Amino acid sequence: MNIVVLLSGSGSNLQAIINGINAGRIPGQIVKVISNRPAVKGLERARNHNIDTTVIDHTHFSTRIEFDRALKCTIDDCQPDLIVLAGFMRVLSDEFVTHYQGKMLNIHPSLLPKFKGLNTHARAIEANESQHGCSVHFVSAKLDSGAIIGQAGVAIEANDTPETLSNKVQKQEHELYPTCVALFCAGHVKWSLEGVLYKGKPLQKTGLTLSELLT
Ligand code: GRF
Repeated sequence: MNIVVLLSGSGSNLQAIINGINAGRIPGQIVKVISNRPAVKGLERARNHNIDTTVIDHTHFSTRIEFDRALKCTIDDCQPDLIVLAGFMRVLSDEFVTHYQGKMLNIHPSLLPKFKGLNTHARAIEANESQHGCSVHFVSAKLDSGAIIGQAGVAIEANDTPETLSNKVQKQEHELYPTCVALFCAGHVKWSLEGVLYKGKPLQKTGLTLSELLT
């Protein structure tokens, strides 16, 4: 399985996936890492593992569609089986998303469908939630609304700040994302028009928990 990873920043999820591949947990290889921002830590992490990198700076394009088309050309040159969004902070056009339907994953820092969009940790605290977490889902045209493969939860404690909560959620992300990528690469997780199929059976709307995915 050839994987292309798109990111915009630190790349800690990229690192977790690289570690999963190196540990033999993920039957695939990362053929390229693409960033829309130059000089981010995620690119450095890729280079440290001799992974090919490309920067496609969105500020050099006057429209979203032109940027998306350049991105699509670079991705398609790699003939990927899977595209992994790992902190890629760009809204993608419908044309782009449709082109990769069923083979593009994203990780979002909330228990979807709650808290789509930005600032999820602060919003979860503000809403007095007792549980928060992260979700891995197939990417669909509607933001943060694609079919969910799995979720990992954390408890929100009285003294949590957006920062402490973010750290707790990221620890879960680093377990959940490689696990979902491994299941996709092994052919156990598939996208269908009706939703996610896990080992051939349809999943409920919120996917599986991390412990269910690990068994
Ligand atoms: C993660 O928190 C993820 O949920 C969100 O962007 C962040 C990326 O972090 N989509 P990193 O670049 O992988 O460290």
